[in-house]
Parts: sequence; structure tokens; C-alpha cells
Amino acid sequence: MTPVLITGCKGQLGSEIQRLSSGFSEMSFNFTDLEELDITRPGDIRTYLDHNPVRFIVNCAGYTAVDAAEDDKKMAFKLNAEAIESLAKISAEQDIQLIHISTDYVFDGEKNHPYKEDDPVNPQSVYGKSKLGGELALQRLNTGIIIRTSWLYSSFGQNFVKTILRLSGVKDQLNVIFDQTGCPTYARDLAAAILQVIRTEISHEKTPRHEIYHYSNQGMCSWYEFATSIITFAGVECNILPVLSKDYITKAKRPRYSVMSKEKITAAYDIEVPHWMNSLKDCMDELTAK
Ligand SMILES: NC(=O)c1ccc[n+]([C@@H]2O[C@H](COP(=O)([O-])OP(=O)(O)OC[C@H]3O[C@@H](n4cnc5c(N)ncnc54)[C@H](OP(=O)(O)O)[C@@H]3O)[C@@H](O)[C@H]2O)c1
Repeated sequence: MTPVLITGCKGQLGSEIQRLSSGFSEMSFNFTDLEELDITRPGDIRTYLDHNPVRFIVNCAGYTAVDAAEDDKKMAFKLNAEAIESLAKISAEQDIQLIHISTDYVFDGEKNHPYKEDDPVNPQSVYGKSKLGGELALQRLNTGIIIRTSWLYSSFGQNFVKTILRLSGVKDQLNVIFDQTGCPTYARDLAAAILQVIRTEISHEKTPRHEIYHYSNQGMCSWYEFATSIITFAGVECNILPVLSKDYITKAKRPRYSVMSKEKITAAYDIEVPHWMNSLKDCMDELTAK
């Protein structure tokens, strides 16, 4: 069996990987979160790997509070850039293939058609800049696979879906931004794609790939359309009002448009990407059954 280390395993993505892991019997998994392995401590990573050697690391740990990062730049960079540099160095030394998750927020959102992997980056927020720092570390060391994703949600952890559900239970109407377009991603679909990438890499006889890929669900929408769909699937009464970004001020600036092309990952790894509405329905069914 091929040993795989998952860091940040208690977050949205890590939890979904845990849930799907039993379907990938050719892999054995070590699941760690902050208490077992703090990725900002390179010495701890080395000691951990001495005792638990692996062939793949999937880094699901990250500083993900986009607005809080504006006032917490040091911590955001420590976790999203410096820690990734250490992980990448150690992975390169030990022939480990590192799979690292990045974000659509590395783009400035000035395009009007889906971003490709080699489109120029220009992050507008501290979070986006810190995530780009992590990407650049992998690229400098020419190691690992970067998968950029967007608007992640799951029945685990905190996310937009759960926030809308909670607020719709206590408010008659909600203001939601409609002039930002992107694509929601069910963390379970991303988890399945990552496990498929590893499965393919295990059977890949050539040298390991060091590439950037994009993965989000299929289709696109605004936050307003996303919220409206959540309310509709939940069957709750709440008026969703479309508002402009300029009238809904957040600390961090977000891209106006951040839809990403999935052509590269689907071709390389034979991955089928579900439409965001079908995946939202699946997640909502699970949330409402809880
Ligand atoms: N969420 C999104 O909308 C989104 C969009 C695009 C890209 N991404 C990227 O996708 C990845 C996964 O996101 P997610 O939403 O699953 O994240 P998440 O739910 O915030 O989970 C991150 C996990 O990492 C843990 N962690 C924090 N600091 C750590 C450290 N020093 N060492 C080890 N673990 C640590 C967290 O623990 P605590 O909870 O105790 O801090 C948490 O369990 C991240 O890289 C993120 O940047 C996310």
C-alpha cells in the first residue's frame, strides 16, 4: 500500500478525504491536524516523517480566514507561505510528492472568461498573496502539484452554505453580493479528485508531475445565485436581496470574476466534474438529514 499523509485533516477538505479514504484501498493514510503535526514547525515535520515515511503528502492545512488575514498578515504568511516552503523542501529531499491546495484568489478577477493555470496572477488580498507565496515556493523548488480551488463548502467546518442556512433561520431577508462571479466547490468532489490524482500518480511510471491544476465544480454563479439556491433547496422562507460589492464592504478585496477552467486536470487524470447545483443539492441533503 502507498502511504499518504494528510495534514489539516479536521478541516472541510481533510474531513472529506477521511470520509472517502476507505474507497482507495491501494493507499494507507496518516491523518493529522494541528495537535499531531503543526506544519509551521519544520523540525516536527522531519521527526514525524522519520517515524512515518510516506510517498504523498496532501496539505489541507491553511490559514483560510480571508478577511481576518488583512489584520493578521504575519500568521497568514507563516501558514500559507513559509510552512509550504518547508513542506516543499522536505518533500523534495525525501522524494515525496506534495499535493498542495491553493485558491482562485491569486487572480485579480479582471478576466471575463475562465482562468487557465498559466494566466497571470495578481492577488488583491493578504490571503491571496500569502497563498501565492506557497505556490511560488513549490515552483521555485520544482516540486509537487498545486490544485487551485474556489468557494469551498462541505457539511464539515464553517462555510457560506452553513452561514446562509443559519442566518435564514433568524432573519427574514439577507443582502448577498451579485457582482462577483465564481464557482462553488463541494469539498467532497475536490477530495475525490485529489484521491484520483494520487491513484493515477501511483500507477504513473514516468517521473512525478510538477504542475498547477484548477478544480472547482462545473458551471458558474454569483454569491447571490448561490445563496438563492441554498434557500430553495432548504425550503426555507427568506428574501435574498442582490447587492453590489461597493455596498457590502468587506476587509479583503475579492475578485469580480474567478471562474477557472478545469480542462487540464480533467484531461490529465480522467476526472469528471459535477455541476455545482447537483453537488450543492447532495450537500444540502446531507445537512438537512443531520
Ligand atoms: N475554504 C475555501 O473557500 C477555500 C477556497 C479556495 C482554496 N481553499 C484552500 O483549500 C485548503 C483547505 O481549505 P479548508 O476550507 O478545508 O480549510 P479549513 O476548513 O480551514 O481547515 C484547515 C485545517 O488546518 C488546520 N490547521 C491550522 N493551522 C495548522 C497548522 N499550523 N498545522 C496543521 N494544521 C493546521 C485547521 O485547524 P484549526 O481549525 O484548529 O485552525 C483546520 O483543521 C486551504 O489550503 C485553503 O486555502 C479554501
